[in-house]
Amino acid sequence: MRIGTLGNGMMAEALATHWVKAGHEVMIGGRDPGRAAEVARRVGGTAGSLTEAASYGDVVLLAVPAEVAVEIAQLVPAGTTLIDCTNALNHSDFTLAQPATAEEISRAVPGVHVVKAFNLAADAVWRNPPAGLGVPICADDGLEVVAQLVRDVGCEPIPAGGLVRAKLLEATAALAIGIWVSGGDVRAMFPPSEAAFGTVPPG
Ligand SMILES: NC(=O)c1ccc[n+]([C@@H]2O[C@H](COP(=O)([O-])OP(=O)(O)OC[C@H]3O[C@@H](n4cnc5c(N)ncnc54)[C@H](OP(=O)(O)O)[C@@H]3O)[C@@H](O)[C@H]2O)c1
Repeated sequence: MRIGTLGNGMMAEALATHWVKAGHEVMIGGRDPGRAAEVARRVGGTAGSLTEAASYGDVVLLAVPAEVAVEIAQLVPAGTTLIDCTNALNHSDFTLAQPATAEEISRAVPGVHVVKAFNLAADAVWRNPPAGLGVPICADDGLEVVAQLVRDVGCEPIPAGGLVRAKLLEATAALAIGIWVSGGDVRAMFPPSEAAFGTVPPG
């Protein structure tokens, strides 16, 4: 499929590299043509402006700072699937600067299928993900398309509910990053499911 990225930073490069290798056509969109072209050269895609990348194809990866996410998302035409990987982190105390970015984007661009995914791990992880890494996805529409793009990165999609639950993924990222930065082991919070719960989910 055709995928545009809004942003030419670390997340755009990490994910686009896999998508090009999987056979997708990717346009790296940036506000600085030179930076976008450089990243496009490294990943094997083409480069364009933010406006060109927004309407390049079926899917757009929104990979800009969360504080400009709603503004930049307005470039995306209705009918497009928009992957929101942003985290609106307050780096002073690892809380959220805005409580529900994905839902805010969705309200601002009706007709765009906003999907929250790829926000839980760092770009270095996406560059070279460990085998079997699960990627939670929150979406009302576009789940299957993004699930395939998760597999194309070498990971396992985990459907995690509708877009109303994206705020939980955003909060989870803030919690996990705060623990990780203070030296804690985030993975230790989640024992293997069989060991913890047998075959019956908790509830
Ligand atoms: N890096 C991670 O480990 C990670 C993990 C999960 C989620 N995220 C989230 O993913 C998003 C992107 O992160 P990143 O690490 O890729 O950031 P990054 O490397 O700093 O790249 C940010 C991109 O946004 C562009 N940008 C910044 N301000 C802009 C504005 N006002 N208008 C238009 N474009 C603007 C930058 O353009 P220029 O190149 O022109 O400056 C750059 O292309 C963030 O919301 C972050 O919270 C990051």
